[in-house]
This record gives sequence, C-alpha cells and structure tokens, in this order.
Amino acid sequence: MRNILILLCATSILASDETPRVIIIGAGASGIAAAAKLFRNGIDNVTILEAEDRIGGRVYSVEMEEYDVDLGAQWVHGEGKNVVYEMAWPFHLLSHCLGPNDGSIFFKTAFKALARTVGSEKEAAILMRRNSIKFFLSTGEKMNDKTGRSLITFAMNLTAEWPGVENLRTGSVGEYFDRKINDYFNKHEDIPEDLKIPLVKMVHRAHMAENGAEDLYQASAKADGDYFSDGDQQLNWKTGTYGIILDLLMRKYPDPEEELPIVNSTLFNKKVSRIEYKGDGPVKVKTSDGDVYMADYVIFTPSLGVLKANHKNLFVPHLPPSKINAIEHIGMGHVGKIYLYYDEPWWTKDLSNFYRFLIWTEDDEKELASDPERRWMLSVYTVNRIEWKPKLICLWLTGPNIREMELLPKELVRDQSLWLLDKFFGKFYNLTEPTEMLRTHWNSNDNFLGTYSWMSLDAEAHNATVSDLAEPIMQRDGRTPAIMFAGEATSDFYSTVHGAIGSGWREAERIIDIKKRSSHWTQG
Ligand SMILES: Cc1cc2nc3c(=O)[nH]c(=O)nc-3n(C[C@H](O)[C@H](O)[C@H](O)COP(=O)(O)OP(=O)(O)OC[C@H]3O[C@@H](n4cnc5c(N)ncnc54)[C@H](O)[C@@H]3O)c2cc1C
Ligand SMILES: *[C@@H]1O[C@H](CO)[C@@H](O)[C@H](O)[C@H]1NC(C)=O
Ligand SMILES: *[C@@H]1O[C@H](CO)[C@@H](O)[C@H](O)[C@H]1NC(C)=O
Ligand SMILES: *[C@@H]1O[C@H](CO)[C@@H](O)[C@H](O)[C@H]1NC(C)=O
Ligand SMILES: *[C@@H]1O[C@H](CO)[C@@H](O)[C@H](O)[C@H]1NC(C)=O
Ligand SMILES: *[C@@H]1O[C@H](CO)[C@@H](O)[C@H](O)[C@H]1NC(C)=O
Repeated sequence: MRNILILLCATSILASDETPRVIIIGAGASGIAAAAKLFRNGIDNVTILEAEDRIGGRVYSVEMEEYDVDLGAQWVHGEGKNVVYEMAWPFHLLSHCLGPNDGSIFFKTAFKALARTVGSEKEAAILMRRNSIKFFLSTGEKMNDKTGRSLITFAMNLTAEWPGVENLRTGSVGEYFDRKINDYFNKHEDIPEDLKIPLVKMVHRAHMAENGAEDLYQASAKADGDYFSDGDQQLNWKTGTYGIILDLLMRKYPDPEEELPIVNSTLFNKKVSRIEYKGDGPVKVKTSDGDVYMADYVIFTPSLGVLKANHKNLFVPHLPPSKINAIEHIGMGHVGKIYLYYDEPWWTKDLSNFYRFLIWTEDDEKELASDPERRWMLSVYTVNRIEWKPKLICLWLTGPNIREMELLPKELVRDQSLWLLDKFFGKFYNLTEPTEMLRTHWNSNDNFLGTYSWMSLDAEAHNATVSDLAEPIMQRDGRTPAIMFAGEATSDFYSTVHGAIGSGWREAERIIDIKKRSSHWTQG
C-alpha cells in the first residue's frame, strides 16, 4: 500500500499523458547524447541551455588552413566497451595509431612495407608509433638512439601493468613511477647522471597528459592502475576530427535527412546561473540574462571545474554533502595544446620522428621556473606531428602553469613557441616560419575551468567517488529524480568522450524508465 501511494505521488507531479519538460544544461557530448536518446524515445519537449555559442563543449573542431583540427578531444581511447569506437568504426572513420597514412607518400610506403613484414596493419601501427619517438634535449642535442629505444620500451611498459601498487607508502602515481624509474636507472648505467631528474620529469609530464593531473604525487596509483580500456588507445579520425561524433549522435551523419532536432532545441549564449528545487514539482532554472525556465527534469552536464567554482551559487538549496565532498576532492585536470601550421614544414621527409619528446635540463628548468612569463614552456613535454595532417605540429602542455600561457598575448606565445622549437631542434633542422598558430583556452574559460577529471589521493582519503557525482537529486518522494548529473566526470570512463556519451545516455534512460513506469500505471 505504501508503495502504491508513493507511486501515485510520483505520477501526480506530472500528469501521465503529458510529455515531460526536460532541460539539459550544456550541449557537450553528454548533453547531446542525452537529448538524442530522449528524442528517439518520444520525449521531445527538450530544451538545451548552452553557455557558449556552439555545440560540442570539449569536443571542438575548428578549421586551420586546409585542415580541421581538434582543440579538445582528439583520439579515441580503446576499442572494447567504447561507444565511440562502436559508432564510428563501421563507417571507416577511424584509423589505428599512426595509421597507414599521415598524408605523406613516404609514410604510406614505409607503413605498407612494415605491415607486410609483421603481418598486420594494427601491429605495424603500434610498431610505427614506438619507432617514431625521439628524445631531444634543451641543450639542443638529441639522445642517442640506443638509450632512447630502451627508454621507450620501459616507458611504454610502465603503465601496462601496475604490480605492487598496494605496497606504496603514499599510494601516488608519482611514487610508483619513481620507484620503477630508479629500478630502471640502476639497470641502465648508460643514462648520464645529470639526465636522471630531467628524465623523471619528462615521464611524469607525459603521464599527466593521460590522466590530466597537475602533480603525479597527488594522483592515485590504484585508480590509474584499475582504469582499463581494451585495444588501441590512440585511434585517430584520419583527415576528419572528433567533431563528427556529434553528427553521429544527432543522426546527421550518415544521412542528414534523419537529423534529430537537437541544434534547433538548443539556446546558445544561455549561461545557467541558478537552479532552484523544492522537492515537489518543477525545477526552476535561471540564466544570467534573467530568463527563467521550468522543467520536470533537469540534466546538468557542465564540467567538474564549473561545479568546483560555482556549485554553492548554482544550486538552491545547496547540493547534499556527499556530492559536495566529491566535487571538492576529485581532481580536475589542466592540459593545453598549441598547434602550428607550416606551408613549408621543416620536418618533411623525416619519417621516424613523429613524436618528439622534450627533456629540459636542470639548468634550463631553474632559469625558466623563476620567470612567470616563460615558465609555462616547461609544461611542453612533446612536439607531435598530427596523423594524416602532414603540415601540422602540436605542442602538448601539462602541469600547473598552463592557465598562464592562455592569458599571455597570442603573439608572445607564438614567439616563445618558436624560441622553444629553435632551442630543441635548431641544430637538426632548418626551421621554417609557421603560417598559423592556434592555442587552447580550456583552463581560463569559465564554462570549462579545466580539461578532464582525475582521481586524486585526496578523493580517496575522503571516500569521494564517481557515483557520488552521478547521483541524482530526487523529489521528496524519493523516487522521482529532479536534477540529474551527466558528463565525463560522472562516468567510470571519466576523462573521455565515450564516458561522457555513456553518462548522457544513462541519465536519459532514467527519464525514459519513469515514462514507461507511469504509462504502465495508467494502463493498469
Ligand atoms: C584538450 C583536451 C583533450 C582531450 N582529449 C581527449 C581525447 O583524446 N579523447 C577523449 O576521449 N577525450 C578527450 N578529452 C576529454 C573529452 O573532451 C571530455 O571528456 C568530453 O568531451 C566531455 O564532455 P561533457 O559533455 O562531459 O562536458 P563538456 O563538453 O564540457 O560539455 C558541457 C557543456 O556545458 C556548457 N556549460 C558550462 N557551464 C554552463 C552553464 N553555467 N550554463 C550553460 N552551459 C554551461 C559548456 O559550455 C559545455 O558545452 C579531452 C579534453 C580536452 C579539453
Ligand atoms: C513544452 O512545454 C512547455 C511548457 O509546458 C509548453 O509551453 C510547450 O508547448 C511544450 N512544447 C512541446 C513541443 O511540447
Ligand atoms: C613490463 O612490466 C612488467 C611488470 O612490471 C615486467 O614484469 C616485465 O618484465 C616488463 N617488460 C618489459 C619488456 O620491460
Ligand atoms: C530546424 O529548424 C529549421 C527551421 O524551422 C528547419 O527548417 C529544420 O528542418 C530543423 N532541423 C531539424 C533537424 O529539425
Ligand atoms: C640547411 O640548409 C643548408 C643550406 O641550404 C644546407 O646546407 C643544410 O644541409 C640544411 N640542413 C638540413 C638539416 O637540412
Ligand atoms: C572512508 O571510508 C572508510 C571505510 O568505510 C572509513 O573508515 C573512513 O572513516 C571514511 N573516511 C571519511 C573521511 O569519511
């Protein structure tokens, strides 16, 4: 009897013949995924409020000369249980690792030959990747190939398995790496003494791109070790970009005729400033321009960075303690990219150096670290070429000073980038002038305030989990969700696009289930 009463209560919030009003906050991958699932299940009173003037959020593909490039997500990480892989692979949109082609005929020939030798394109791609890493020093020298190769084997294996994580003193990734690296140094006497600290820093910075942390001594080794996805970790979109995933979700691709009205349901430049919920009845959503929207269900998707900065002002009443605990203690990462386009690339015909890793000497580290205008450069740990786009390189930045780079004048950052390239590569190449430069602003943009979430020791110490972030705010009946939470950080595949999409679908399902339940009730 009690249950029936609760059910009656739940359905009385919404007459069952009415389509519920849904507001989705944010038109990123998770918001669009949620909207698509709702539309396809006949729930069509959906409004998306988006603070930016575009859809996609951290999936952001822009034109750069004849190419499209990704300022946000770029690679598909893994094949198993990866909804992006499942959606895109059948349309031949993806390519393994370096793939059969970076756009240059040299690469294609070399790749084909290698694939014949090893028997499969996939193996060849992985090998190609391994063989295409070279190490450059800030002194302008290059690490010798033998030392480099053994270091790569070591570094690529470093995160393949995580034995002994239980026995760490602090439990941090930093501690775990340092132990392994010291082991490695002890077995490899060819590593010069003065390179040891610089190498440790480089290995740290490279991993910080993977988990987004600014400091590996704060990152949980257990969480990184448990985080598993199957298959190729770096599938690329060939000449395309990650942006096509939005079209796949909205059914605009492959057949534009079937496009769901998601863009039409999105209001742009609508920054949500307040969400009021009473516990019985609709949720009131206010935007910074003073408009008010009422909804039966709200799906909130902005980043963990946005939540950290604004949750106290955004939600009236405040969020429950377990959610605040998770918001405060789970990490939000900060990475950055600087793309350079060259009409005349200086690396032409240089097949093997696809990923150039940078090793800053201790002297250079010391000099730059004391200069607030230039210390961001120490965040650059690699200068990559971009698969299938042979006239592009990308400087990847990790660590604490990226926001500073974002706030410097563009011309200055361009000049500093060229200074950096000259410092590392000037002795080996006749460097040319780039035609165009693009840099990211994820960390200083108020609608993101970071790049992707990571699991910190602090989160573990406070028992903060991804499920705390995902937990919906219920109506007083305890059965009907009022405010739901989706987005990358609420997924077991946190930090990825496929995680974000899965979380959007999860929350849409929650609403679809209620619709099914309530129509069952009225039929009965
Ligand atoms: C540089 C970079 C590289 C990455 N590389 C990869 C990669 O290679 N592979 C991968 O899988 N993932 C990668 N990621 C992560 C991936 O992009 C994200 O996990 C994913 O896109 C997040 O989607 P989301 O829907 O959770 O959040 P978002 O995309 O952030 O969507 C949330 C939306 O909410 C909007 N918003 C914020 N505040 C408000 C407000 N107050 N009112 C209204 N709207 C608001 C935002 O503008 C945004 O559009 C990368 C991310 C970055 C930044
Ligand atoms: C959605 O709900 C609002 C508010 O009840 C209503 O005004 C509007 O007509 C509805 N739209 C659709 C498409 O049903
Ligand atoms: C890779 O790491 C594992 C676990 O640490 C170790 O047992 C194995 O020998 C390593 N393999 C190589 C090639 O270094
Ligand atoms: C979006 O709205 C326009 C204008 O009303 C309409 O022509 C178009 O078909 C709509 N698109 C979708 C995908 O519904
Ligand atoms: C750089 O240019 C000079 C002059 O044209 C040439 O002699 C030299 O070989 C070039 N160096 C490289 C690394 O291509
Ligand atoms: C976290 O959970 C453990 C085990 O349930 C408990 O002992 C500990 O007190 C909790 N810590 C916090 C900060 O709540």
